[in-house]
Amino acid sequence: MQIIQWPHPFLSEVCNEVDNFNSELHQILDDMLKVLKATKGIGLAANQVSVLFRIFIMTPKLEDGSLGDVIEFINPEIIEASSEKAGLNEGCLSAPNIYAPVQERSEQVTVRAKDRNGNEFTQTFTGINAVCVQHEIDHLDGIFFFSKLNRQNRRQAQRAWESERRKS
Ligand code: CO
Repeated sequence: MQIIQWPHPFLSEVCNEVDNFNSELHQILDDMLKVLKATKGIGLAANQVSVLFRIFIMTPKLEDGSLGDVIEFINPEIIEASSEKAGLNEGCLSAPNIYAPVQERSEQVTVRAKDRNGNEFTQTFTGINAVCVQHEIDHLDGIFFFSKLNRQNRRQAQRAWESERRKS
């Protein structure tokens, strides 16, 4: 399992709902956590590792800056979003080292999802964790964060990413 980079076509795919909460799903989730833990990121969407299902994982940032236990989201949906905006820089493991703010991100979101056994849960996140949830659900809808930047930031991010790619 490897992280694909922008503009890989899988990053523009709308991912499929998960119907089977079986051992295959559990293996995908376990593998995704290994991949995420090898990075400095806090969130990973399944299509970033070429799995075209509505799955993402997050190791939330805690108050003290450390990372909490992984949370697994299957078929996630945002059911409430604050009108207050977060205004934080965000980055993506599919375009490492590029950071820019998406203006429309809510400061607080409540998400409903299923866990790996198919049990529904609802949880509220704030700040960078809320931004992460919105960013990852965008991935599952085939939306890359560059496309949500304002024109100036988008141009800057795309240029920086092109030069970053040339380095590797
Ligand atoms: Co991303």
